[in-house]
Amino acid sequence: MALIDSQLTIDDSIIFIGDCVNVLKRLRSNSVQCIITSPPYWGMRDYNIQGQIGLENEINEYFLKLELVFNEAKRILKKNGTLWLNIGDGYTSGNRKYRASDKKNPARKMTTRPDTPSGLKRKDLIGIPWKLAFRLQESGWYLRSDIIWHKPNGMPESVKDRPYRNHEYLFLLSKSERYQFDAEALKAENGKRQRSVWEVPTKANNIKHSAIFPEDLIIGCVECSTKKDEFVLDPFFGSGTVGKICKELDRKFIGIEINSEYVSMALERINSEINVITSGTIKEISSSLDSSQMAN
Ligand SMILES: C[S@@+](CC[C@H](N)C(=O)[O-])C[C@H]1O[C@@H](n2cnc3c(N)ncnc32)[C@H](O)[C@@H]1O
Repeated sequence: MALIDSQLTIDDSIIFIGDCVNVLKRLRSNSVQCIITSPPYWGMRDYNIQGQIGLENEINEYFLKLELVFNEAKRILKKNGTLWLNIGDGYTSGNRKYRASDKKNPARKMTTRPDTPSGLKRKDLIGIPWKLAFRLQESGWYLRSDIIWHKPNGMPESVKDRPYRNHEYLFLLSKSERYQFDAEALKAENGKRQRSVWEVPTKANNIKHSAIFPEDLIIGCVECSTKKDEFVLDPFFGSGTVGKICKELDRKFIGIEINSEYVSMALERINSEINVITSGTIKEISSSLDSSQMAN
């Protein structure tokens, strides 16, 4: 199978280093079967690179950027394709300009924090996952399921006036009313059909990325949404968990990641020869590919 546009043919797994919107614009419409991704959460982490999404001072700007990403991604998705979207929530900063470190979770430290969005108060839970899900629904995506990712070993937080949060959302969205989905392939630990609360513990690892997917969260997504050799796209590839699982399950993948250090981690984890393209301009992308990969 090949993904072809006037500039670019992709017939095997590939990683692009660059901004995801710029790269997505180069990919052919109706060409990938599934998208599995976790964008940077708003105001949560600094990935220390220019062009990163997630540190906008205005939440609306953050949502507009993600809408741009997912509208472009929808164009690339096959008509019968699906999107699995993991997105975290957060509390307003109360206009504090920093967040203290945490012994157990040093990546929590932030030297910059966005203002409290207008209409919200100090201490409000923002509701980011649902706000984004509704926007995507309005822009044409079919919102098919909200899955609670329950983390039984979630870390306690330093709060005394609400329960500790130990869940996140994973949304299943589709491009059309009917789509490729093998419900039998989505099995819970007890071998029964999976329901909408998934218990997936976070596991310790030595990967130097602060927000990696647990592999067990995405294996089922890949298995029920794709067949062998079909393409999965992750526009926020990070340390490449989606690529690793795709390789193990004989799927192909397209990863896009803005930070080249994470791409090096991903290559080490995937442990196989993968084409890596640094996307600066369209010209660079096309000239980096060998002529056999170019469309006529
Ligand atoms: C939540 S992490 C994804 C982690 C990934 N799921 C994994 O298992 O390692 C989000 C990633 O998006 C990347 N990122 C931020 N802004 C980006 C952009 N504009 N284009 C592409 N990647 C971006 C960050 O560098 C970060 O690695």
